[in-house]
Amino acid sequence: MFKRTRRLRQNENIRSLVRETFLTKNDLIYPVFVVDGKNKKEEVPSMPGVYRYSVDRLEEIIEEVEKAGIKGIMVFGIPSFKDEYATSAYAEDGVVQNAVRKIKEISKVYVITDVCLCQYTVHGHCGIVKEGFVDNDETLEYLAKVALSHVKAGADMVAPSDMMDGRIKKIRMTLDEQGYVNIPIMAYSAKYASSFYGPFREAAFSAPQFGDRKTYQMDPANIREAMIEIENDIEEGADIVMVKPALSYLDVIRWARDRFDVPIAAYNVSGEYSMVKAASKMGWLDEKKVVYEILTSIKRAGADIIITYFASDFSLDYI
Ligand code: PBG
Repeated sequence: MFKRTRRLRQNENIRSLVRETFLTKNDLIYPVFVVDGKNKKEEVPSMPGVYRYSVDRLEEIIEEVEKAGIKGIMVFGIPSFKDEYATSAYAEDGVVQNAVRKIKEISKVYVITDVCLCQYTVHGHCGIVKEGFVDNDETLEYLAKVALSHVKAGADMVAPSDMMDGRIKKIRMTLDEQGYVNIPIMAYSAKYASSFYGPFREAAFSAPQFGDRKTYQMDPANIREAMIEIENDIEEGADIVMVKPALSYLDVIRWARDRFDVPIAAYNVSGEYSMVKAASKMGWLDEKKVVYEILTSIKRAGADIIITYFASDFSLDYI
């Protein structure tokens, strides 16, 4: 005798009864690019459907997100001014700080901010550069300033993406000292030195001007090391940990799910978005169905939260 597994696949009624993984709008976070200036809505060339908005036009995208039923957004800033010390990253009237205040004024959406220096430094690295090398400990001071300034502007959660050692501890201590004990931290814990960030760097003008990010972001070949990163971040006070990118790292998500009990986020990054957009533009893929399959696979791997550029036009009819 052989097993007839097809018995449970005969029609949609029975298939839905035995389905193991469900994707919902509650799982998704939509990244929003905010650019300094006025009356701007610029499409990112390598990311069709994704725009950079100036603060005065943010309403358009916030409305769209609300209409799609998405409850959380992640804000990325694109400043008009860069220097060695990323001054515009922690300015009270910086682009993210202005954006957060505006969003909080017009919406109840949950606002997470990306905390990093790369868009704000002249060299495009995620930290303070000393003699050609990113100085870990000095960078921590600046990251803490950035996180605090976002929270003061009204951010609900901060998400440090720099990959310096000890940043979660430093940010947690700073927020606690200032009385922000209830602001959670989502740590980009296992963030790989990935070429899938290419379109994002075009969108945010944040490509490193010399060298690469391999001295702070992880080697794509490593998974045990990712567990050390995650463990460190949880010990230092991270409330949510992240694996990034998502698709080439589904095994990392699964290992993390099996070993740790905190919520896990996965970042379905820019390059993963652009690949699908390009292929569907050519007529080679059915975009909606492929998106549903991709997001479901990330959830099946063990992610609780998915950060994705597909969130704004996500629909449960895809299935
Ligand atoms: C900033 C940052 C990056 C991304 C999120 N935060 C780029 C990088 O590390 O170079 C990538 C997001 C994406 O590709 O969608 N440190």
